[in-house]
Amino acid sequence: MIQSWDELNAACLACQRCELCKTRTNVVVGVGNPNSEVMFIGEGPGENEDLQGEPFVGKGGILLDKMLCAVDLDRHTNIYIANIVKCRPPHNRDPKPEEQEQCINWLRSQVSLIRPKIIVCLGRIAGCRIIKPDLRITREHGVWFKKGGIWMTAMLHPAAVLRDPRKKPEAFADFLNLREKIKEVCPDTYNM
Ligand code: URA
Repeated sequence: MIQSWDELNAACLACQRCELCKTRTNVVVGVGNPNSEVMFIGEGPGENEDLQGEPFVGKGGILLDKMLCAVDLDRHTNIYIANIVKCRPPHNRDPKPEEQEQCINWLRSQVSLIRPKIIVCLGRIAGCRIIKPDLRITREHGVWFKKGGIWMTAMLHPAAVLRDPRKKPEAFADFLNLREKIKEVCPDTYNM
């Protein structure tokens, strides 16, 4: 098992465990405070993320940052953001199960180093992989599950909200719900 962030970063940057290494520009390891109590997990880098080497920096990322700001969260201060796969799937297709399988141990190492109290899965792919395989995102977003001592919930993916802006109120309600959970179980997040 990986012991340090330096070791993890070096291993991810050199990773050739799946085909996605052949088409990537950057490996998108993650962004944020490694001492966070709250971790967000998306699906995988898109074009902008691949070019810039940081998760959620396209239009969806701008929406995510706004929703985070509304509940006093910030990607550089009191949360950490990573993805299920760290290299961009071509044409933004869903990451294949074998790609997820090859990549998931990097994410496990990130979770072990951070030891978050809350994990928020952004979208169906992350929710099904992390919370439960039969998660129904439309029905179960905002619902809390506890696994291995960690509180987990799934939210609508920002890209899905951008595609259908009528979903904004329910997406925002999940952030308000998250803020309450943070106040309940994370003593440090709002003091970082
Ligand atoms: N979508 C994701 O799921 N993750 C990113 O980093 C960007 C877009």
